[in-house]
Amino acid sequence: MNPTAPKTPETADQSSAPHLNRREFLTLAATAAVAAPFVSRARVLGANDRIGVGFIGTGGRGRTHLAVVQGLINEGENLQMTAVCDAYGYRLNEAAKATGAKPYAKHQDLLADSGVDVVCVATPDRLHVPLALKAIQAGKDVYCEKPMGHWSQFDLCREFSEETAKLKRIVQVGNQGNSSPAWGKVRELVQQGAIGRLQHIQAGYFRDGDWGERMPIPDREATPGPELDWEGFLGDAPKVPFTVDRFFSWRKYLDYAGGPCTDLFPHVLTPFVSALGLGYPRRATASGGIFKYSTYDREVPDTFNMTLDYPEGASAVLVCTLANSYSTEPAIRGDEGTLILQNAGGWEAGFDSITVVPRKGAQKIVPGWKSESTPLHWKNFLHCARTREKPVSDVEFALKVQAAMCMAMLAFLQERVAHFDAATRRIKC
Ligand SMILES: NC(=O)c1ccc[n+]([C@@H]2O[C@H](COP(=O)([O-])OP(=O)(O)OC[C@H]3O[C@@H](n4cnc5c(N)ncnc54)[C@H](O)[C@@H]3O)[C@@H](O)[C@H]2O)c1
Repeated sequence: MNPTAPKTPETADQSSAPHLNRREFLTLAATAAVAAPFVSRARVLGANDRIGVGFIGTGGRGRTHLAVVQGLINEGENLQMTAVCDAYGYRLNEAAKATGAKPYAKHQDLLADSGVDVVCVATPDRLHVPLALKAIQAGKDVYCEKPMGHWSQFDLCREFSEETAKLKRIVQVGNQGNSSPAWGKVRELVQQGAIGRLQHIQAGYFRDGDWGERMPIPDREATPGPELDWEGFLGDAPKVPFTVDRFFSWRKYLDYAGGPCTDLFPHVLTPFVSALGLGYPRRATASGGIFKYSTYDREVPDTFNMTLDYPEGASAVLVCTLANSYSTEPAIRGDEGTLILQNAGGWEAGFDSITVVPRKGAQKIVPGWKSESTPLHWKNFLHCARTREKPVSDVEFALKVQAAMCMAMLAFLQERVAHFDAATRRIKC
């Protein structure tokens, strides 16, 4: 492998959130603040203290986070991009060059850096919770990408949420759509009685293409070594021999990902759970398969449907195909009316408007809100890091969404019904 060789452009930010191409990413270097002197201090952050940010994972999504944080610095937020870490030397060096942050090949060294107050974890799914757990234990607050963990890691996710509470750390899970003001309007309408009692949620994610899982491979000749940390990538995953596909195109494999359920549905389900005040699902079923992209070594489904029954007395049905982006409008049905969300296709960004359809009387249209919500999610996280308030996607809340995803994946893979034991907060399948 030649880590300095030019690579193909990487476009690995898989959701509909905007991502940076290589040129845009490098312009970060031009705008990155000339690092102001950073004074290390106690872990208690005051309203005016500069917050040092460390980034673990500087691939597609990590680069978006670097740009968002740079944008916040440009707006006057008192932040510093202190450190970056990646298991792939080429991406690490690019991120360090673009930001002026200190590069670390190993997360342990980034976590030991006293200039890092908050850590952004944007690695493959299976490393989220293990790294976030180490980060809170090192006294950091964490912005942890979605899904909170791999579909097989629910027990670890629960332990992480307990440890976060015990250590009084702030954790924001990266379901940024939850910061969209559009959902506040749903919450308000439901609280005002617009639909009566909630009965049913119907939503989906429709995409034309498998680019989400068929991630670009920047160097086909890459091999493990000082510039590529295969063991670090594997974490607690089964120890299998290295392939460039597994390392770079990890979303194709069940050991590291789950397909639409864990990659896309966290964006769909999270704001419903938040706006409608739902808890843990009681029961989950799932169906789907590899119906379109079956000609290569893909393990994750391209079609996925799941049903969730909530003990509050409501069901949620989420459907996805990656073979056709024709979309239907999500609906929230109550016993007295319905809310229909217009143009919610990019779930991470909110939606344009809400049509309120009462059982009796005239329909009305309420404006929504649609824009990139990652900066809002960061602002909420940083505000909470200073005030110690709970962020909008705090870990205790996000665990409810994670439970639904893990239940549906287990139901799908085992062809069974998954149940949630509320007393022990454990999944039975
Ligand atoms: N919230 C959103 O809208 C959104 C959008 C895209 C991706 N994501 C999430 O972000 C995560 C990353 O996705 P991506 O598309 O950027 O993937 P990616 O493969 O492009 O980036 C992951 C990076 O992590 C690095 N890495 C792997 N193991 C590591 C380790 N032990 N230590 C440090 N770095 C390590 C890889 O080398 C890679 O550069 C995923 O979990 C995904 O679900 C969220």
